[in-house]
Amino acid sequence: MGTRTGNRAMQVLLTGATGFLGRRVLRQLLDEGCAVRCAVRPGSDVQSLRDFVGLRRWSRAETVNVQLANPEQCEGLVQDCDVVYHAAAALSGSASNLVMNSVVPTRNLMNAASEQGVGRFVLVSSLGIYGSQELRRNSLLDEKCPIDPAGHLRDPYTYSKILQEEVAREISQESGLPMVVVRPGVIFGDERGAMSHRVGLQLGGLLLRMGGGQRVPFTYVENCAEAVKLAGFKEGIDGQVFNVVDDDLPTGRQVLRKYRKAGRKFRVIGIPQVATNWLARFNEWYSERTEQQIPAVLTRYRVQAMWKPLQYSNSRAKEMLGWHPSTSFDEAFEKTMASGA
Ligand SMILES: NC(=O)c1ccc[n+]([C@@H]2O[C@H](COP(=O)([O-])OP(=O)(O)OC[C@H]3O[C@@H](n4cnc5c(N)ncnc54)[C@H](OP(=O)(O)O)[C@@H]3O)[C@@H](O)[C@H]2O)c1
Repeated sequence: MGTRTGNRAMQVLLTGATGFLGRRVLRQLLDEGCAVRCAVRPGSDVQSLRDFVGLRRWSRAETVNVQLANPEQCEGLVQDCDVVYHAAAALSGSASNLVMNSVVPTRNLMNAASEQGVGRFVLVSSLGIYGSQELRRNSLLDEKCPIDPAGHLRDPYTYSKILQEEVAREISQESGLPMVVVRPGVIFGDERGAMSHRVGLQLGGLLLRMGGGQRVPFTYVENCAEAVKLAGFKEGIDGQVFNVVDDDLPTGRQVLRKYRKAGRKFRVIGIPQVATNWLARFNEWYSERTEQQIPAVLTRYRVQAMWKPLQYSNSRAKEMLGWHPSTSFDEAFEKTMASGA
């Protein structure tokens, strides 16, 4: 596929360009010489995006104000595009808000892309959608693992990503629109930091460290952006799914140690791995007893899905995309701390 079609630069559409991941994908696509149309919302912060990529690169970018929930607006948007990169999604909010901002836009964009004969649709999904609660401790989580069949028992965000992929797969199969799915693990870096739910739960100033020996499936935002970029270029990968995690994954305990070394203070209560299930059982029981006035935030299902020690594979992305996470965890963590995140 490459970055040129004939003698013109590849024309791509990127959604979510103003986001944490999207702005890095944009910068890398512009560095490859692509012409990038960014679908932004009327209130999106385009000025800060322009500052982020720099004026020289910006000359090959354009922004189009659009509501992706509106199918008619999606039609013109994808015209003449070789590839659509779909990174926009809501990360929090109620289940209905998440569906409106993730599932509906995906459906509209894909329908428009198939009608306009777009060459490839790259969907940014999530590693969180696997049914990891069914896996044995320390087993390998790769692209062959099934998707969580009971996503409604997880958090609303994960559920919306499961629905998003379901809808995307259905449209791709029915319409023949070539699709590549990228499933990043926990994306970290400047602006966001590296403190994740996968390490523990933050309750005010307190951190409940869940387990501690389990690897955190991190991917540094620049590494991840490169994998997303490559998913639009490589020949012969239509229909593929790629998990994106870095090579040197730290454990939850190691992440906390790094934060402490960097001078960041946390009040930590360590919950040993074996006790996480008991804590969840107690939360479920107490929630039922108080007729859900105390919500069951922690359930045994979520504990099994989130904090079980697993191994993560990135070999398919390496072999088929030619991706190599070029920034190591240590280097990425240093850069993240230096950014003040
Ligand atoms: N962060 C992670 O750890 C992680 C892990 C796995 C997968 N992912 C996936 O990676 C993608 C990017 O995540 P991120 O962390 O970069 O998120 P982010 O910083 O919150 O950015 C989300 C982007 O989506 C846009 N957006 C949200 N709702 C929209 C809508 N209805 N119409 C158009 N644009 C909309 C936002 O635009 P505005 O600027 O207008 O708000 C923003 O550009 C998402 O698909 C997410 O599910 C993230």
